Amino acid sequence: MRVRKAVIPAAGFGTRFLPVTRTIPKVMLPIVDLPAIHYSVEEAAEAGIEHVVLVISRGQEATSEYFGRVPALEKALEDRGNTALLERMLAISDMIDITFVYQDEPLGLGHAVLMAREAVGDEPFAVFLPDDIIWSDTPTIGKMIDIYGERGGAVISVKEVPDEAVPSLGIVDPERITDDLSRIRRMVEKPKLEDAPSNLAIIGRYVLPPEIFQEIERTTPGAIGEIQLTDALDAIRESQGAYAYRFPGEHFDVGTPLGMLKASVYAALHRDDIGQDLRDWLRDTT
Ligand code: UTP
Repeated sequence: MRVRKAVIPAAGFGTRFLPVTRTIPKVMLPIVDLPAIHYSVEEAAEAGIEHVVLVISRGQEATSEYFGRVPALEKALEDRGNTALLERMLAISDMIDITFVYQDEPLGLGHAVLMAREAVGDEPFAVFLPDDIIWSDTPTIGKMIDIYGERGGAVISVKEVPDEAVPSLGIVDPERITDDLSRIRRMVEKPKLEDAPSNLAIIGRYVLPPEIFQEIERTTPGAIGEIQLTDALDAIRESQGAYAYRFPGEHFDVGTPLGMLKASVYAALHRDDIGQDLRDWLRDTT
């Protein structure tokens, strides 16, 4: 079955970004002049996904407004004859169909995905964690959808990380199929380095079968009362198989201020309008 929908959970507190996330949703923080969420939605659209289900919390309406029309601004740009900028603005609201669903309490990533159940229905879907930005020539999720089409099961993106990062991430035990694809034997959440089966860490892109929803419902909340995705993923791995895709390209975790800063500098350095100025300034300042 074709993968037509994507779920983007964005209802967390964003505590690592406090105090700004007291009032501004984490996914609306900018990388130069585009909010982080723009990149996930754009990747979905470029991969041919038709519909995004964005999970937000009450008070995070700035996220839904970003993808809507802004009539007063559009009129002002039109009156001023700034058609290039007007077209850029219209392209954002025309990018893809988006449904917003609420998660009233941040009860965990698994719970956030479950909030999208009705909007997704009985079909496979993609999940994007918007903190993970991947810049690649072709959309990572598109390649993962192809793998799902060939093999079914769950398809999860992974990246080789340095030893010091292993104990804070979800790590897979891979059985090689090709250079960039493995069957997952097991997944270990935050292992000690000596217990880790590899250095391949799970990054926020998934293609999942609809049965994941039943599995999330069966999941009992963990120590801090949150329903995670890990147990449900492991149940799918056992019943249908799971595959790890090692994606090419640049990955940034923009869920922390340092990661966001790195992504911003990287993006700015690659822009024609400001890249050279920034490069000169960095050279003179450091
Ligand atoms: P994170 O734990 O990385 O994000 O969740 P967070 O909770 O917003 O940030 P911190 O840890 O407090 O700094 C991964 C993704 O899952 C979403 C988050 O919004 C983020 O995009 N999420 C997490 C939900 O939508 N609901 C939840 O209950 C938990």
